Amino acid sequence: MKLEVLKKQFDQVEGDALVVPMFEGESCEQGLLREVDGGCEGLLSHVLEAEDVRGKLHERAVLFRPRKLKVQRLLVVGAGKRKDFNLERASQIAGTAVRSLCKPRAASLFFYCRPEFDQAALGQKFAEGACLALFDPNAYKTEDKKDKSWERFVLTAPHLMHPELWQQALDRGGIVGRTGNFVRTLVNEPANRLTPTLLADQAKEMAERYGLRCEVLEEHQMREKGMNAILAVGQGSDNPPKLIVLRYDPPDASDSTPVLALVGKGVTFDSGGISIKPAHRMDEMKTDMAGGATVIGALLVAAQWKATIRVLGVVPAVENLPSGHAQRPGDVIRSFSGKTIEVINTDAEGRLILADGLAYAKELGAQSIVDIATLTGACVVALGRLNAGLMGSNQQLVDRILAASRQAGERMWQLPMDDEYKKQLRSEIADLKNTGGRDAGAITAAKFMQEFVGNVPWAHIDIAGVDWAEESEPYLSKGPTGYGLRTLAELIQGF
Ligand code: BES
Ligand code: MN
Ligand code: ZN
Repeated sequence: MKLEVLKKQFDQVEGDALVVPMFEGESCEQGLLREVDGGCEGLLSHVLEAEDVRGKLHERAVLFRPRKLKVQRLLVVGAGKRKDFNLERASQIAGTAVRSLCKPRAASLFFYCRPEFDQAALGQKFAEGACLALFDPNAYKTEDKKDKSWERFVLTAPHLMHPELWQQALDRGGIVGRTGNFVRTLVNEPANRLTPTLLADQAKEMAERYGLRCEVLEEHQMREKGMNAILAVGQGSDNPPKLIVLRYDPPDASDSTPVLALVGKGVTFDSGGISIKPAHRMDEMKTDMAGGATVIGALLVAAQWKATIRVLGVVPAVENLPSGHAQRPGDVIRSFSGKTIEVINTDAEGRLILADGLAYAKELGAQSIVDIATLTGACVVALGRLNAGLMGSNQQLVDRILAASRQAGERMWQLPMDDEYKKQLRSEIADLKNTGGRDAGAITAAKFMQEFVGNVPWAHIDIAGVDWAEESEPYLSKGPTGYGLRTLAELIQGF
């Protein structure tokens, strides 16, 4: 889908569809809707009278062949209350528009950029939402498969002051949207099609395409370095673990250029290991590498956006399976950092691989570290499927992530990190145990990881509840969401 800007009035555009966003309570007696109503000889006012559409968020009404317009269809999309309009909703209504009339090889959609939308940040959001809307999780269907897409998404308005700025904003958004769909493709892949090796291959291939440095540590290299927490989780599977390391350096980087490290959980399948999970919904654990895929995506965005900071990506990729050589509950391992861990539950594997990933990021020179992981069911219990959990050792970094998440249109909620929670991780035999009991499960997981970052400012994003949508939305298919990518992109941008 090409993203374009066109400086024209809505009655001058020729194509398949014209989309006009409508706020709640707007009428055809004045303003924009009055002009649009004129373009379809009063048909729109009938539609409003019949209350087919009132402007509520994501409501839709379609008018065919409006007489005085040069488009096949006029689509009115509800944008909700004017006062509640924000960047998240901007992205969503563009998505709703794109999904609504889409079919295989649909030609051009003109999205009317209302005068109220006069800030280029919205252009980025429209493009992101439009691109993300077209993802379809049907990769392995062999019948009746018709990929729906628009050839062109055209942001249209007669009043655009600087079309070139809007085009830039669309391009930036297109990069995030397309990279988001790449992340979602990875998350959607079943574990037989995406082993740690294949995830590493994907990272290498994309790194090459976009000019990132990529290094993959093999099992023997991790053994030499003493990354025994990653190895312990991976040892039950015949698919060997990999440690993916990606680097983005801006062209004009100097010694004083900040280094932000992103660490992502890359468990390609989480059966629980010897502490095996129940069969019900275990299939969903193919998504346990969502954090890792998001980190790979964030580096791809940094490269395409030509970010001005250094970004380091660290993704430990493993498969957590039970077998005759799997780790057992009660095992003690010496992690890369030197700290020893008593493994109480082999299903608390994410924090183990991240312990080594975080410590390695620190060794590679990270000055701030953000990790992202489908880490705990407890986070889903606490926050449901609307907010990611956010925790950290450094409030300034947490605040930056909160600001980035607002800019991104992704919701996050900070959970407390009082030091007393650490007591739940005391072991009789080792420095730490890997589970802290039922209470405050999302927090104790974070407290565990905090032990491995030393005093480098660090924050942790738990996406266990938000990486996958159980239901489709007007603007998004069900399945993988790519949650977190947009926040990390904004964080890198504003760092
Ligand atoms: N990958 C899971 C967390 C998860 C659960 C993600 C549900 C998405 C949906 C993680 O590895 C895990 O199993 N966590 C355990 C930790 C427990 C054993 C301390 C959990 O949350 O039950
Ligand atoms: Mn687990
Ligand atoms: Zn897991």
